Amino acid sequence: MSKTILITGASTGIGKLTAIYFAEKGWNVSATMRTTEKGRGLLKYSNLKVFALDVMDETSISQAIDATISAFGTIDVLFNNAGYGLVGAFEAMSQVQIKKQFDTNVFGVMNVTKVILPHFRAKKSGMIINTTSMGGLITFPLYSVYHSTKWALEGFMESLQFELKQFNIKVKNIEPGAIKTEFENAIDFVSTKDYDNYTIQAHKNMLDTYKTAPTGEVVAKKVWQAANDNTYRLRYAVGGQGPILLFMRWLLPLSWFTKMVSSQVEKGIKY
Ligand SMILES: NC(=O)c1ccc[n+]([C@@H]2O[C@H](COP(=O)([O-])OP(=O)(O)OC[C@H]3O[C@@H](n4cnc5c(N)ncnc54)[C@H](OP(=O)(O)O)[C@@H]3O)[C@@H](O)[C@H]2O)c1
Repeated sequence: MSKTILITGASTGIGKLTAIYFAEKGWNVSATMRTTEKGRGLLKYSNLKVFALDVMDETSISQAIDATISAFGTIDVLFNNAGYGLVGAFEAMSQVQIKKQFDTNVFGVMNVTKVILPHFRAKKSGMIINTTSMGGLITFPLYSVYHSTKWALEGFMESLQFELKQFNIKVKNIEPGAIKTEFENAIDFVSTKDYDNYTIQAHKNMLDTYKTAPTGEVVAKKVWQAANDNTYRLRYAVGGQGPILLFMRWLLPLSWFTKMVSSQVEKGIKY
């Protein structure tokens, strides 16, 4: 019998390409998104259904999970993927912007995970895969709030795996480097004149890394590996400079690593 994956944020980028990858491999796919019209192109796959799900709306989460189980009989893998980046000068960010970043990237993941757990426990199997980021284990300038959401996810999932093992529920974090998706266009960039001298150039330097970044297909393949390797491995680095940067962070003293990041991202900035 075919397995079933429910994906959040499947309208574009990594989520969409993962939906296509799994559908083409014969899995049943519940491609969930805030605006279902964006999923029209996915409906050519007979084993893929599109459902409305906003990770900040608990009713839509329950409805999408129920609809997926009605359509396919079960859910084997939850792929928590929806997210976006709030980027810039922390001092210039409003409470509303910071709260929305956490509501989407952290509480959104907790919301969906909480609703699916009774289903996984009842059948004594399941898997939660999350798109965290290399930015869940290392940091760059201007991403302080985004990083804090992804670091929160890394800690949340690293701990959660313990209590879920007894129910045969696996937890896996996918940690992409820079990937060419809609992510860079969806960035909420914040600055003020007091910070512009720094933020504008540093933001440009960060965005330059996307020019040579791979597409989301490399991440889709890593999600496929995580879903099928039959291990309790937690972390999967993938894409662009992500794996090498994570290795260097592990190898080098933090002060050296910070200098290396600064020499790249702060290039051209004069104090
Ligand atoms: N691209 C990168 O370089 C990179 C690197 C590391 C990690 N990531 C992470 O990868 C994940 C996917 O991002 P992406 O690169 O594929 O970017 P993307 O193309 O912008 O996709 C983001 C997806 O999240 C959805 N989304 C945002 N807020 C949502 C909400 N409240 N409820 C449901 N869906 C919501 C978007 O839906 P709409 O179409 O409705 O806006 C979209 O489908 C994110 O968690 C991101 O942080 C990306």
